[in-house]
Amino acid sequence: MRQRKIPAWIQVDASVRGVRIYSNYGAGKEAGDEGRLTEVVLSADGQVRLSAGDLAGKGEAILATRGAGKSWLAAVQAEQLIEAGYPVLILDVVGEYWSLKAKYPIIVFGGRHADVPLDPHIGGEIAKVVLDRKLQAVIDLTGMRRADQPFFIADLATELYEHGLQVKTPCWLLIEEAQNFIPQVGNPPCKRPILDIVEMGRHAGLGVCLVSHRSATIDKTALGLCDILVFKRLTLPHDLQVVRDFFRGRDPKFIDVVKELPALGNDEAILYYPLRLETPVKFKVAERKTPHIAETPTLEIREVTAPEVSAVSKELTEYFQQLVREKVERRDEAAELRMRVEELQKELEERDRRIEQLEHDLELAQRFRIEIPPELLKVPGVNEKLEKLEERIMDLYAAQVEKAKRLEEENRALKRRLELAGKADFSALAEKLEALNREMQRSRGPLASLSESLSGVVEAASKVLNDLKGLSRSFVSAEEHMRRIEEIRREYEQRIEEMRNADAWRLNPHIIIRMSRIVNEIAQLTDTAKQVLKVASSMRPDVIFDESTIAHSVGRSPSTVRQYLRQLAKLGWLTQTRGGFRNRIEENVADRISKSAGPAGKVPCTVIEKCKREILTFIQSL
Ligand SMILES: Nc1ncnc2c1ncn2[C@@H]1O[C@H](COP(=O)(O)OP(=O)(O)OP(=O)(O)O)[C@@H](O)[C@H]1O
Ligand SMILES: [Mg+2]
Repeated sequence: MRQRKIPAWIQVDASVRGVRIYSNYGAGKEAGDEGRLTEVVLSADGQVRLSAGDLAGKGEAILATRGAGKSWLAAVQAEQLIEAGYPVLILDVVGEYWSLKAKYPIIVFGGRHADVPLDPHIGGEIAKVVLDRKLQAVIDLTGMRRADQPFFIADLATELYEHGLQVKTPCWLLIEEAQNFIPQVGNPPCKRPILDIVEMGRHAGLGVCLVSHRSATIDKTALGLCDILVFKRLTLPHDLQVVRDFFRGRDPKFIDVVKELPALGNDEAILYYPLRLETPVKFKVAERKTPHIAETPTLEIREVTAPEVSAVSKELTEYFQQLVREKVERRDEAAELRMRVEELQKELEERDRRIEQLEHDLELAQRFRIEIPPELLKVPGVNEKLEKLEERIMDLYAAQVEKAKRLEEENRALKRRLELAGKADFSALAEKLEALNREMQRSRGPLASLSESLSGVVEAASKVLNDLKGLSRSFVSAEEHMRRIEEIRREYEQRIEEMRNADAWRLNPHIIIRMSRIVNEIAQLTDTAKQVLKVASSMRPDVIFDESTIAHSVGRSPSTVRQYLRQLAKLGWLTQTRGGFRNRIEENVADRISKSAGPAGKVPCTVIEKCKREILTFIQSL
């Protein structure tokens, strides 16, 4: 190793180096051991020493870069203060100070080696008990959330200062990673209480040791207030600048100390304590009495066996455990109450929402009276409106019925004329029917403009209309029918001609005329009537049927089919009875043919049967 030249300011003479001071404070005094030497030896050679009383009543800062031996030096001081019986409180953020238990009956709060589990809400209580009982305790913050730590430390520091002012018990507070709790920038809740201790802690006998690896980010006021500064290796330019500025402001003649800092070994330090030392003192740090846990990972970690906790500690442990239990219970209770309050709040909100909904519904109901259909009738004017609507519907309905009746009569009259004429002027008739149809179309207009509630009436009217349309179509095609009838007639004449010799009766002109009249009558039926007749012809004469039996085969509604059944019954093709209708097509043919024999006498059955078959064949061909 290169032998470095020690600057002049470090060459301290023996009278200055290692100030020996007898304590006026501390456990020695409490124990009645007046004058007991309570020194803290910092250096390995035992030359650099501080009084326990000084440490307890002053502010100290240990500044060095990471891994430069800050904690080691702080622990060296802690060990000796604990040994001297001084109340000590260590805020340990990395969980390394529990190893003090290897030699001393300290209490560890929190962390993996906790005697008492740490609760974020007992900072104040810990401070109070530490002062009242002159305890030595490590508060391992590793298990506490980062967000809770500033609040916890704020409680602890506040109580330490305020209670300390009352009880005047000396105590040494060590704060690791102090830049986190008293940063230069930012204002965490613990900053002010810590600064109070640094500034005025002396009045309460409180000393504080701030350990930081970032001189640049720790609060400069706090640094400025510290009486004792221990510099270890510092390398970062910003951190070195802070030290430079510090000396420039306090003691410019020692500004060269800064140059020494980057080259310091882990076991080396420079003590600046102007109240007791004329110059800064460089020294080799003393050995620790307990294992140093915060070894860097490259080094072998020594196992530490934690000793049995002393009887006092056991009692204290129980006290704090009880305290934490109570706090937790109270918090649980509070949390439960908060939850209940939230639930009630939600319930209230839900109730408010329902009330609002109900009010809204009520308003709607009042406005429109729509709660239930019967209520609608109670609304003034609705009954009258409904009655008027009904009247209008009835009028329209009656008008339609009247019109339908008239049309039916006209239709019948036309048919009669047709029958009588034997040969009708179909085109003129068709024209007339078209005119009637148009009139019906016009009359449909007002019906269509009515709402759906009137659809029943419209349907009834349109049925009549459809019938008329069908009738009209049949008239339009009547000429064609007549042509077919003519053809059939010619066919009959042909046949008659053929049969003349064989069957004199069948050649009877009366029968021929009758047959052609029957065929003519059937041909003049509407399409639907023809279909109804066709279906009826397949029924046995003794079977009673009604519209519902054949409506499906015809493809029309039962009510429509019923009309045609009645029409066919009137024409003699069906018999209408109470229970329905019967097929009398053959009967009808027989009646009409048998009456046509004329002077020739009674028509033979064979001829009647022949006529029946011919008519049935004709009907089936429809
Ligand atoms: N005086 C010493 N003698 C021997 N070894 C030391 C001394 N001081 C520190 N060390 C060693 O240096 C390493 C770092 O020490 P320490 O944990 O005290 O550093 P630190 O500055 O507190 O680090 P950090 O910033 O990470 O907290 C450790 O392994 C320790 O054993
Ligand atoms: Mg450390």
